[in-house]
Amino acid sequence: MASCTAPISPAQPALRQGGKKSRSLQPPGRLGFVSLPLGKTGFHLEAMVSSSSSSGGRASAMVVASAASTPAAETPNKKRYPGEAKGFVEEMRFVAMRLHTRDQAKEGEKESDAQPIGKWQPSIDGYLRFLVDSKLVYDTLDSILEKAVYPSYAEFRNTGLERSESLAKDLEWFKSQGHVIPEPSSPGTSYAKYLEELSDTDPQAFICHFYNIYFAHSAGGRMIGKKVAEKILDGRELEFYKWDGDLSQLLQNVREKLNAVATGWSREEKDHCLDETEKSFKCSGEILRLILS
Ligand code: HEM
Repeated sequence: MASCTAPISPAQPALRQGGKKSRSLQPPGRLGFVSLPLGKTGFHLEAMVSSSSSSGGRASAMVVASAASTPAAETPNKKRYPGEAKGFVEEMRFVAMRLHTRDQAKEGEKESDAQPIGKWQPSIDGYLRFLVDSKLVYDTLDSILEKAVYPSYAEFRNTGLERSESLAKDLEWFKSQGHVIPEPSSPGTSYAKYLEELSDTDPQAFICHFYNIYFAHSAGGRMIGKKVAEKILDGRELEFYKWDGDLSQLLQNVREKLNAVATGWSREEKDHCLDETEKSFKCSGEILRLILS
């Protein structure tokens, strides 16, 4: 998988093939899900099945979700994906939550690979680098949605989640306090370029980034902002962490639009979107780490 910091070139397979890689639903080394009907109860259990080279290709299974009802008319053995019954956003959320470390979020499954944010020692300069690169990413998202190479992107304009203007105000404030605002650095410029290219060639993968960027900021991002502010800004709440209106309603409106857009996607396209989540974590993670640089 190409790194966010690596230049994006036409040689990258996902782009060369217009993002239409053929993907099996359960390739080796990843998780798959099966649905087990519970007799004639109309309920089924969802089980997570994993096979990997580290387990010698053997499959192991564990139950990950409680019973969910299956309409009587539905084929009892139909494959179900965690969250599928609630809509595609819930599928994206399920995949994203598993990629958190255990100390980041309750549902996280990854081992911690870095200091927990409670122990972070941020600096103003590092935080400014993070804000500048974040602004570049949000500016890029706005311009992609404005262009709307794919008509469905236009659905996501003016959702109220946009962060560019608030970040511009925050940077102005830092400047007024005598700080020098840096130029964007490599994590931000590489991610912005990647998003631009992806948005032209691979709408499902682009939507994955769109979802993760905005929803991560509304959850863990806010938590991080609060902790950093306590340590280096005397608790000052930046505009970046304020929204006009009720944030949970704004998020819900976007969830509904995402679910509606994904209704037109094939299962393979949905899986492709979900598969991009890891990349999204990697790219955003590189920008987050600037706080500690
Ligand atoms: C230090 C880094 C991070 C921390 C501490 C963190 C923490 C959290 C927490 C506490 C939640 C809320 C869980 C809940 O609903 O109970 C959350 C949700 C989420 N996070 Fe993270 N996160 C981090 C990084 C990321 C990154 C890099 C991404 C992806 C780019 C991401 C994507 C998401 C998504 C999509 C949700 C679901 C939001 C929703 O359902 O509204 N997070 N995170």
